[in-house]
Amino acid sequence: MCGIIGYTGPRVAAPILVEGLRRLEYRGYDSAGISVEHNRTLSMYKRAGKIADLRSHVPPNVPGTVGIGHTRWATHGGVTDANAHPHMDASGAIAIVHNGIVENYLQLKSRLEKEGCTFRSETDSEVIAHLVASFYKGDLEAAVKETVLLIKGTYGIVAMHAAEPGRLVGARNGSPLVLGIGEGEMFLASDVTAIIAHTRQVVYLEDGEVVSFTADTYTTTNLRNQVIDKQVDHVNWELEEIEKAGYTHFMAKEIHDQPEAIRRALSGRIDHEYNTGHLGGLNLSNRELLDINRIKILAAGTSYHAGMVAGYVLETLARIPATAELASELRYRNPIVERNSLYFAVSQSGETADTLYAMREIQRKGGRVLGICNVVGSTIPRESDGGVYIHSGPEIAVASTKAFTSQLTAFYLFALIMGRMRDLSHDAGRQFVRALEAVPAQIEQILANKAPLQEMARKYSRHENFLFLGRGINYPVALEAALKLKEVSYIHAEGYSAAEIKHGPIALINEETPSFFIVTDDGLRDKVINNMKEVKARSGPVIALAVEGDKEVASIADDVYFVPPAMELMYPFLMAVPTQLFAYYCALERGCNVDQPRNLAKSVTVE
Ligand code: M6R
Repeated sequence: MCGIIGYTGPRVAAPILVEGLRRLEYRGYDSAGISVEHNRTLSMYKRAGKIADLRSHVPPNVPGTVGIGHTRWATHGGVTDANAHPHMDASGAIAIVHNGIVENYLQLKSRLEKEGCTFRSETDSEVIAHLVASFYKGDLEAAVKETVLLIKGTYGIVAMHAAEPGRLVGARNGSPLVLGIGEGEMFLASDVTAIIAHTRQVVYLEDGEVVSFTADTYTTTNLRNQVIDKQVDHVNWELEEIEKAGYTHFMAKEIHDQPEAIRRALSGRIDHEYNTGHLGGLNLSNRELLDINRIKILAAGTSYHAGMVAGYVLETLARIPATAELASELRYRNPIVERNSLYFAVSQSGETADTLYAMREIQRKGGRVLGICNVVGSTIPRESDGGVYIHSGPEIAVASTKAFTSQLTAFYLFALIMGRMRDLSHDAGRQFVRALEAVPAQIEQILANKAPLQEMARKYSRHENFLFLGRGINYPVALEAALKLKEVSYIHAEGYSAAEIKHGPIALINEETPSFFIVTDDGLRDKVINNMKEVKARSGPVIALAVEGDKEVASIADDVYFVPPAMELMYPFLMAVPTQLFAYYCALERGCNVDQPRNLAKSVTVE
């Protein structure tokens, strides 16, 4: 979604702002702009399109050492230069950038128009610039505070005023902002990737907080003007982690990161003596864990699919009812919160609005919510009652890949802990640990054998409809495979339980609609094979992901890709990776923008 960067310090601001925006490109956007102060005058450059368009629009050597920048993902108003941020007040003395949605903007706009304001854009955000101007009496911080008190909705705002050179003011409610503290310079951004090239010392703003800062000082206050002492955190991510490391796309890099990411997620979290897991951040005693009799997992998109797999694993290992639910749906159906239920909010970014609001709803009702997140310091882990960081490293491609398998890793460890506290024997625990520790090397084997998947993509990428079919624990993997293919290649794909096709989807089968089956060597294998035959009998092309040595599957499928044999519960890892590669190669074949697919945003901070 939208991205924000602000800079104040001794250096020329414009290149720092544009470069910061480039680092935020992965979030998804359709226009971009910057505003810079010099000699008490603001200049502004904005363009619909990509950062490259903005870069060529900004003249070389724009003077000024303080400024703000923004990448916009359109919500109110089309993708035009005028709707791009920053927005200015009528005098051109104030510039603002805004992430989020001003829900009462029509009401505010009509009031401002009656007072004589002329609007230059169709955005909700422009009201903020005019409101700040209307409240400004020589103190930008005070004017911003008065403004946000009128706003209903969500915001991450940064404002500057030509009459207060060197100062920026940021305010947060529902849209993240992080202050970066450099050597004699400061940054404010919507996420740390925009600033870690410059500093690792950061302060995360909370909702209702305002930061006012110059190159060497900052104060954080709430809307009642009380000063808030903020902790300075250190960001561990390395700059190289947000580079492509020789790969053509972030998606390819992140698919290949998976063995290492899983090892990191496991690191220090297995107790080989007791064959159980160890997750320090749960904030629950063993007695409390023992009392849990239901687990609910809240998430969206890929994280939801990881949650569905987790439900299966938790029920199998720990015999606790465990289900995943779309966070967006849960929030509005007045969920019943039971005393001994435990909730998980799963989110790579830790900022997904649907998941965050569902978490808050459960907490408001007294439920305990643990986070499973990747981005350290993001909102969900900060507001949750404990949880697990998956430590995958930054995931930049919009299509989530390594976060999925790392989320699984965290859940598998939790399921092991819960299982070992209940019926799972020492021996069964050991087998599970061995199988889980073997996964990274097995994924390496898959990554060393990509050519058949590339070949399949060449053969099938011109088809416009796909079915992905799996059973049991691999049913959510089929859903995830369909999501991956559709988001990066724009091929229409549906995921189903293979058992369900006879209840409707089989009507779609013809020679133009390939079915991609996930077949493992479990109790459901024969049934899936029957489903494959049903598709073949109707002239549908069949692709299969199967376990090495499965000659029967190979004899039925038109094309087959084999994964190494594993414990049944580990197949979601091994089956997901080839489907990610298949989606990636199909997108390449179709010439799609793999890392930033159309219309999508990396971090979805609106409902
Ligand atoms: O950051 P989150 O895990 O909360 O994001 C949830 C979804 O928006 C995300 O998984 C989305 O579906 C991805 N684009 C899938 O690749």
